[in-house]
Formats: sequence, C-alpha cells, structure tokens
Amino acid sequence: MATAAAPPAPSRIAVVTGASSGIGAATARQLAAAGYRVVLTARRKDRIEALAEEIEAAGHKATAYPLDVTDREAVDEFATAFRTIGVLVNNAGGALGADPVATGDPDDWRRMYETNVIGTLNLTQALLPKLEASGDGTVVVVSSTAGLSTYEGGAGYVAAKHGEHVLAETLRLEIVGRPVRVVEVAPGMVKTDEFALTRFAGDQDRAAKVYQGVAAPLTADDVADTITWAVTRPAHVNIDLLVVRPRAQASNTKVHREG
Ligand SMILES: NC(=O)c1ccc[n+]([C@@H]2O[C@H](COP(=O)([O-])OP(=O)(O)OC[C@H]3O[C@@H](n4cnc5c(N)ncnc54)[C@H](OP(=O)(O)O)[C@@H]3O)[C@@H](O)[C@H]2O)c1
Repeated sequence: MATAAAPPAPSRIAVVTGASSGIGAATARQLAAAGYRVVLTARRKDRIEALAEEIEAAGHKATAYPLDVTDREAVDEFATAFRTIGVLVNNAGGALGADPVATGDPDDWRRMYETNVIGTLNLTQALLPKLEASGDGTVVVVSSTAGLSTYEGGAGYVAAKHGEHVLAETLRLEIVGRPVRVVEVAPGMVKTDEFALTRFAGDQDRAAKVYQGVAAPLTADDVADTITWAVTRPAHVNIDLLVVRPRAQASNTKVHREG
C-alpha cells in the first residue's frame, strides 16, 4: 500500500495563486494545515492579508503577496523573493460570459486566455528554477473539465482551459528526469461564491441558475482536498490528471437537477 509522504519540512513553501476566494483560499488553508508555509497571491490585497492572518491565528504559516498573474514584470519580481519553492498551485483564473461562438466577445476570450493560460505560464516559468532547486517540486494546474471537452456557450472558457491542459501535459514531457512533478486537477461543477458571478458580470439570477436544482455541487474544500492529496503523495508518485465532479454531474452537459 502506498503511503503519504512525510510531512513537509517547516521551510517548504507552497505558492497559491487566486487565494483571495473559492478554491484558492480553501487550498491555502488545507496546504497550511498539511504543514506548508503558504504564500497567498491574488489582486485583492485585503482578502489575502485577512486569510493569511486567519491561517497564522490557527497556528500555521502564511504570508500574503498581492500579484496580478498576467503582469510578467511583477511575477518576475515576486520570484526573486524565494530561493526554493516546494509547490506552486496555479489556480487563478475563471470564465467570462457564456455566449455562442457566433456572438462571443473577443475581448472576453482574450482576457480568459491571459488569466488562465498566460497567468499559469508566467508563474510556472518564473518559479520553475526554484521548484527544481527544492529537489522535489510540484506544479499544480487547476484546469477544469472544460479543459477536456466542450459545451455550447462555453467555447471561450473551454479554449482557455484546453490551453492550460496542454501546458500541463507538455511541461510534464519536457521536464521528465528533473525533480518536479506536474499535476493537473480538473474540477467539474464547484459552487464557489464568485465563479459564476464573475462569469455573468455580477448578475445574481444567472449565476444562481448554474447550480439550480443540483443537490450537492462540489465545494471549494472538496477540490482543495483533492489538490492537497495529490501534492502530499510520495515524491516519486505523479498524479498526472485528476478529474473530479459532483455525483450529480456525469459530463459538462449531463447534470441531474431536482425540481
Ligand atoms: N467554480 C467552478 O465551477 C470551477 C470548475 C472548474 C475549474 N475552476 C477553476 O478553478 C479556479 C478557481 O475557481 P473558483 O471557483 O475558486 O473561482 P473564484 O472564486 O472566482 O476565484 C478566482 C480567483 O482567481 C483570482 N484571479 C482572477 N484573475 C486574476 C489575476 N489576473 N491575477 C491574479 N489572480 C486572479 C481571483 O482573485 P482576485 O480577483 O483577488 O485577483 C480569485 O482569487 C479557476 O481557475 C477556475 O477556472 C472552477
């Protein structure tokens, strides 16, 4: 039977992007509880500072660093703060709009590509030497089931998440033999406070409809648990791709709704 890795040394650092809400915040909490010194990044400084304080008050180690993942200069500057890093969780991202290809806004498509794909590229490029220097690094890419198959109205987001999926797959090929694992976690429907609201530009009714009648969508904690499990496997075990959906969702388009 495989056993979990020994707890990380207290100096092991886990950087989590998009830690100001949802899956990123839950992942930061769980990695901190698992023994990592977590570095929380996102654009909203007040939120990551409050979360870092909460994690510290629980007896764990956390610091906040405001960062826009699309700003390469700022990302490079951020990377200079570290000698080694154990884990990078590329979680920052999300969807904008749900229009068909015929009428989708090219600007939304661009912004989704910038945040989900270029953001992940920026952090991964900047921190790869530090992950390697740790002797046992892990890059996690939080993609989506949208990175594996499409659905009507989803093309802009689906294209961006396919980009992230390909980035993870290709990186794994390119760095094989070096001490860095590449783990992709692809969640299905997760009910977080902001994901659907951001997608629908603050429209509460449209956001609520995403989860309407679904008895138990995944929670941010469910996905954080999956990420933490993958990261804490022994160093030689690479969880390539983990697809996690609620029981009520059989595919991107096949969802059981009650009522
Ligand atoms: N919820 C779902 O159903 C679902 C399903 C599959 C995959 N996912 C993926 O999981 C990830 C997290 O989703 P979530 O549900 O937790 O959504 P969320 O609550 O909206 O979180 C998105 C996070 O990304 C950060 N972010 C966005 N743009 C950024 C930028 N330019 N630079 C830095 N940070 C940025 C946001 O922080 P700031 O605004 O403070 O910068 C926020 O912390 C996303 O990649 C999403 O695509 C979500």
